[in-house]
Amino acid sequence: MTRRKGIILAGGSGTRLYPITQGVSKQLLPVYDKPMIYYPLTALMLAGLREIAVITTPQDRDQFQRTLGDGSQWGLDLTYIEQPSPDGLAQAYLLAEDFLDGAASAMVLGDNIFFGHGLPDLLAEAGAQDTGGTVFGYHVADPERYGVVDFDLAGNARAIIEKPEVPPSSYAVTGLYFLDGTAPDRARKVQPSPRGELEITSLLESYLLDGTLTVKRMGRGYAWLDTGTHGSLLDAGNFVRTLTERQGQQVGSPDEVAFQMGWLSAEQLTERARRFSKNSYGAYLLALAEGRT
Ligand code: G1P
Repeated sequence: MTRRKGIILAGGSGTRLYPITQGVSKQLLPVYDKPMIYYPLTALMLAGLREIAVITTPQDRDQFQRTLGDGSQWGLDLTYIEQPSPDGLAQAYLLAEDFLDGAASAMVLGDNIFFGHGLPDLLAEAGAQDTGGTVFGYHVADPERYGVVDFDLAGNARAIIEKPEVPPSSYAVTGLYFLDGTAPDRARKVQPSPRGELEITSLLESYLLDGTLTVKRMGRGYAWLDTGTHGSLLDAGNFVRTLTERQGQQVGSPDEVAFQMGWLSAEQLTERARRFSKNSYGAYLLALAEGRT
């Protein structure tokens, strides 16, 4: 079987964060000390994925390429795909069809931040499933803003409803989707919703109907953070800052994850650290390379 590939969907106009996002893509805004996209990127890396497509608007592509490069600095192979117009999350599978070339995938939204002990195991479990799909349900205070899981009495998911007025549960579906190689075919059959979008929930519905969608609960020991409003963006930054300063460890560092995964040698990490020699990130990477943490 072809290896699972990653997709980061970083398109969209970010209108809710205007005027900030008039000049810069939302997914490149800082979340404390890193560009937002570093956090979903490291989630895919922790899942063991190295071939990753970054989907951006045509006008923002250069900025992403300047920020992430070709990925080789982290032992990754990054591909850039343009999304001409934001026509829904399921469209990503049509745009990435050639890139995927039949492979299973894990897609993450470029503004979703995940944190928690045991995350690599949770991701590995989802990644090990060759057929069907896995998504994660997370308890939130405001489910009506998301795709929401409707559970039957036995606790199995029977439907996922996009932004319901009356949410059937408090479990939102996070923006991290592990789907098998049939996703582009299924996406082609999705009809646009009343708001004119190819909804991810319609694509997931296709797996649900086949009985091949696993909805895993991501428990309260995990943080799934939102960056959709000015307030939640600041909250996410403060969360990362609190952890980073308390633990003296990085959150969402592709350099650290690549080193942990064995994709970068100590020499290569030292080389990376030199680029950041003027700040504490560089000092941190150097300590890591020299085994001083
Ligand atoms: C999208 C999806 C929704 C999902 C959410 C997660 O919503 O449509 O099902 O719960 O991402 O972040 P959007 O953020 O595009 O409104």
